[in-house]
Amino acid sequence: MTDLMPVLTKFWDAPESWTLATYEQHEGYQALTKALAMKAEDLVQMAKDSGLRGRGGAGFPTGMKWGFLPKPDGGPRYLVVNADESEPGTCKDIPLMMAAPQFLIEGVAITSYAIGCNHAFIYVRGEVLHVYRRLLRAVEEAYAAGHLGKNIHGSGFDLDVTVHAGAGAYICGEETALLDSLEGRRGQPRLKPPFPAVAGLYARPTVVNNVESIASIPPILLHGADWFSGMGTEKSQGFGIFSLSGHVTRPGQYEAPLGITLRELVDMAGGIREGHRLKFWTPGGSSTPIFTDEHWDVPLDFESVAAAGSMLGTRALQIFDETVSVVRAVSRWTDFYAHESCGKCTPCREGTFWLKQIMTRLEHGQGTQDDIDKLVDVCDNILGRSFCALGDGATSPITSAVKYFRSEFEAGMTQPWWELFPPEKSVLY
Ligand code: NAI
Ligand code: SF4
Repeated sequence: MTDLMPVLTKFWDAPESWTLATYEQHEGYQALTKALAMKAEDLVQMAKDSGLRGRGGAGFPTGMKWGFLPKPDGGPRYLVVNADESEPGTCKDIPLMMAAPQFLIEGVAITSYAIGCNHAFIYVRGEVLHVYRRLLRAVEEAYAAGHLGKNIHGSGFDLDVTVHAGAGAYICGEETALLDSLEGRRGQPRLKPPFPAVAGLYARPTVVNNVESIASIPPILLHGADWFSGMGTEKSQGFGIFSLSGHVTRPGQYEAPLGITLRELVDMAGGIREGHRLKFWTPGGSSTPIFTDEHWDVPLDFESVAAAGSMLGTRALQIFDETVSVVRAVSRWTDFYAHESCGKCTPCREGTFWLKQIMTRLEHGQGTQDDIDKLVDVCDNILGRSFCALGDGATSPITSAVKYFRSEFEAGMTQPWWELFPPEKSVLY
């Protein structure tokens, strides 16, 4: 760790941490001044050199994504920030936007300058009105101080920022569904390619980046690409915000270099709640295969988590102790996917419906002899056959839970979860 850590979470406890005044007391907008004196292509190179990979879950190299934009043709090009954080368990972008929204807005200004964009959009979840309001106020403050608008810092660069609230659909976190929604249509994924870098918002070249990715740009510019790439592992560089929820003593957001282990993070969070032990956890939200107490020491970087059979995803660590029924927890997630499936493709639309029927039976002790095989078979028919990642994500918790806890699924043929895990002891977050 460097002595500059934590970075993005550094002043979340400060009074009125969300104001421009607080941000400016913590080096706020110094990076933008530096950026505006640089060539745009040098900023793209800096992002590449830093090794920053997308913090929205997929881990695509950020600088490479910026570099995909075609040469300017005189028409508009856009930056769209994906602030539609909705993955069950994922809780890092919303706290960041609530506690320190100016990191994001300064990052938007620098990124827009780097890619030649004069109108950026922040697409935020519809249900979280408090975040929408906070962003609106933060953007207003940045305009008033000359960090946005015409001739920013006297550089001749103009940028407008629009904050847009969606209508509350998980699928609108998929980047092309988000773009359709932003254009005023029903949010459903588009066929890729073309990727947004070539034909995105209004069919123009568009960079879509996650909140945390963009918020990381000002510190990288101020402290250097080498500083950032010096943290983490060889292929997963830098730091990230890990959100720990569930049965730990102090749930919350913990900033740490990639490659940290669950053991180290749980230590930071005061341990598993007293008198209990770890049973299972998700490394990257509910769309990633679950891990168990065999995985305490897996380094939480993209490669190591994949090698151990899951995905780093959004670093949303949901931690469950031995009082929790895995069948019930997975059943809750399955309800979510069945509800949020956008209906565009058959494997996901029909498959998540059937998964929900079977999971509900097993949860209530009414499963049949062939339900587990049927469950796995439906998952096989969704995985790799769906139009977007939502379908695949719906199957991950199920197949991994069957792999590690098959006996609990078998018990679900005759016993409901409340007999196996008495509710007075079983606290399911
Ligand atoms: P993806 O791997 O298809 O794409 C990642 C990014 O790289 C996209 O922006 C895409 O446009 C870009 N890209 C990939 N190949 C490209 C190419 N050849 N040319 C230009 N650009 C290219 O992943 P996807 O489907 O965008 O995201 C899936 C991830 O989202 C999952 O891993 C999951 O962890 C995460 N997720 C996050 C949620 C949240 O609430 N933050 C919710 C649900 C999923
Ligand atoms: Fe829609 Fe699901 Fe198909 Fe994605 S996988 S397009 S969410 S139906």
